[in-house]
Amino acid sequence: MLDLHCHILPGLDDGAETLGVSLEMAVVAARSGVEYIFATPHCNTHDERKNYRSAELIAAYRSLQSALDENGIPIRILSGAEVLARGRFEAHLEAEAFMTLNASRYLLLEFYFDEDPAYMEHCFRAVENAGMVPVVAHPERYYCLQQSPELANLWVDRGRVLQVNKGSILGELGEGAYLTSALLLRRGLVSVIASDAHHFYHRNPHMGALLEALDRRFPEVDAERLLRTVPMKIAKDQSL
Ligand SMILES: [Fe+2]
Repeated sequence: MLDLHCHILPGLDDGAETLGVSLEMAVVAARSGVEYIFATPHCNTHDERKNYRSAELIAAYRSLQSALDENGIPIRILSGAEVLARGRFEAHLEAEAFMTLNASRYLLLEFYFDEDPAYMEHCFRAVENAGMVPVVAHPERYYCLQQSPELANLWVDRGRVLQVNKGSILGELGEGAYLTSALLLRRGLVSVIASDAHHFYHRNPHMGALLEALDRRFPEVDAERLLRTVPMKIAKDQSL
């Protein structure tokens, strides 16, 4: 499997605090059958979590890969970032300041949970005008989508890729996210499921419980497609 959204880089955001935590997260992921992890630190947030394109950030992906290799942990790290659409988002977009997913056309985008859907649409178009494809991080967590799930049809019709969180499906991120993730899955609107893991214990990258839940509650859903085929196409910069 591939995990498209994971805060595994050490010390760069509210994910792994140390390299030890990063390695433990990788071990947990590998044990559940994950082979590739997109390292997606928060980017363009208010505080120090900048993580724009830089030599330091590129060195951070490489240095985690070296540590994994040295410890014999069978995980490949792919580059990325989870970009918050706010503030000077468009100026940064124009300056090509954001790391896309494995340097592909796909940009992982998040919003404030209470964001106005008109602003979201504006940001999607800005990304598309810059020649990229928006991958919407955890759409099931946004209040506008919880209240008006038909918005998801519009986004998918316009070519945006919906990435649902494992924790939402498992009921760990509140009732709204739980119900909305189920509805999106049943309507066939989800393209990718990822861990959005921040640690090896709470919000972890182990996919076991997710696979069981998909099997039990969503037998009609093609888990292989959401956890392997689509994220692999994204990694290879292929169209979906
Ligand atoms: Fe995240």
